[in-house]
Amino acid sequence: MSSAINELTYRDKKLIFSDTVPSGKIGWQSPSNIALVKYWGKMPVQVPRNPSLSFTLSKSNTKTRIEYTSASGRDMKVDFYLNDQPNPEFGLKTKAFFESISDIFPFIRQLDFKIYSENTFPHSAGIASSASGMSALALTLCDLERTHFGNLTEDADFYRKASYVARLGSGSACRSVYGGLVDWGKSKVLANSSDLYGIPVGDQVNEVFLTYQDTVLLVNAEQKKVSSRAGHSLMNNNPFAPERFQQAQRHIGELLEAMKAGDLETFIKITESEALTLHAMMMTSQPYYLLMKANTLQIIERIFAFRDETNIPVSFTLDAGPNVHLLYPFSEKEKVMQWIKSELREFLSPLGFIDDEVGKGPVKL
Ligand code: PMV
Repeated sequence: MSSAINELTYRDKKLIFSDTVPSGKIGWQSPSNIALVKYWGKMPVQVPRNPSLSFTLSKSNTKTRIEYTSASGRDMKVDFYLNDQPNPEFGLKTKAFFESISDIFPFIRQLDFKIYSENTFPHSAGIASSASGMSALALTLCDLERTHFGNLTEDADFYRKASYVARLGSGSACRSVYGGLVDWGKSKVLANSSDLYGIPVGDQVNEVFLTYQDTVLLVNAEQKKVSSRAGHSLMNNNPFAPERFQQAQRHIGELLEAMKAGDLETFIKITESEALTLHAMMMTSQPYYLLMKANTLQIIERIFAFRDETNIPVSFTLDAGPNVHLLYPFSEKEKVMQWIKSELREFLSPLGFIDDEVGKGPVKL
């Protein structure tokens, strides 16, 4: 990491309204993402212990609209509405986040906020709503800066800052500000990579991955018993962690090579190994815990068997939960869908599945 990047803080005392404090509305829609090489383990402040690589999704989005007016008092006011319902818990969390980034956007303290947020996927479906939610919020704040201070007019600057700010909210959110395949974390094989923000790398891969499918099989829609924050911190004492962090470094290089070459066999080997390693880290933490369910394993067994029988390159990855992300080329969609409906349905919760795919990234509302 160059020292210039190391020092990148985006602190800027000049971002203060000196005359009239404006009011207005700004909104962004941002997608969730699914990691292929997993981020698991971090250092302060939200710096990953290893680089990660993800597909940004298409249909699993958060839409966030911010209404801002001149502050009515000294205490910051953040009213949060989730799906049009007041949500004081999210209001408090967002207020704490805004306070934590008020040296980046000092004008935040001059405003009152009403935030309207909605997810296009069911709550607790195992889709990372923190990634889509935090990236939508970060993009909206950068847009507020661009609108009223005339900064960030170059897209590269705008998205880099949004990614940096999103990372402070939720690490993996920094990858959601770009479409396609995105790296976050310093890797030898990617010259521009950084621990502080994501970079898009989708233009480097074979076209089969531009339309790759991710059908999320919902095994269990319960709330997670162990938060990812707690999971990350358990990596500090996991005896296998140092080797895991090195493995992730190797996987980034190998996976990118395979994806450039369109080598699906290696893609499958690395991504499935990543999914199982993530869960192995949970099982080898102290205290240990298990997020897979019996039906998660049933589905994984069926995937191995189906792939052996048909040679269809369908594979899986897992997030920090029991649901299975089924990954496959668009050209196999019909056959895979038929198989899901005939053979996997019995292992799914009543929510069924979410039929998603690689997406193009956030859009302004
Ligand atoms: O961004 P966080 O702190 O919610 O952590 C996300 C961790 C995983 O989803 C398990 C992996 C990843 O890289 O997204």
